[in-house]
Amino acid sequence: MAELMLDLRHQPKERAYAQLHAVMLNTLAGIDDDIAGMATLSSLLQHSFGYLWTGFYRVVAPGRLLVGPYQGTLGCLEIEFGRGVCGTAAAEQRTVIVPDVARFAGHITCDARAKSEIVVPVFDAKRSLVAVLDIDSERRAAFDDLDAAGLERIVRWFAGEGRG
Ligand code: SME
Repeated sequence: MAELMLDLRHQPKERAYAQLHAVMLNTLAGIDDDIAGMATLSSLLQHSFGYLWTGFYRVVAPGRLLVGPYQGTLGCLEIEFGRGVCGTAAAEQRTVIVPDVARFAGHITCDARAKSEIVVPVFDAKRSLVAVLDIDSERRAAFDDLDAAGLERIVRWFAGEGRG
């Protein structure tokens, strides 16, 4: 399967996300399950872009995130809303881009190689927060507004867009 994996590292970002989105929708055609979607999207993002860690933290109780499907080395298990980058994105229900994790007060370090990160809220069809998507890069300032826009569009699958 590895030879079928996209390599999007050298593509302009808008094009890269459009391609990844198309592959994701194709791969998940007929699938109506959040965990399968999270696992598939984690794998596609991690390997197509060569990230350090890509995965989901799910809202399992009010104010509490628990690690979900991911790719990479061990992630921390539980994060309270308001803690770290993931907890901030969850509490404020907005995408958070951190160009340099060393400068983000309260960043939770799971892997010392992580230099920058983006966390995108994931909503269901009723606009309830169900998870956050967390991506960590070994490069500083790896993420910008194009990543936010591309990823926010892609995670609308969890709200039912292009699903089923
Ligand atoms: N970096 C995250 C913690 C999760 S791990 O990096 C996988 C944060 O500060 O929210």
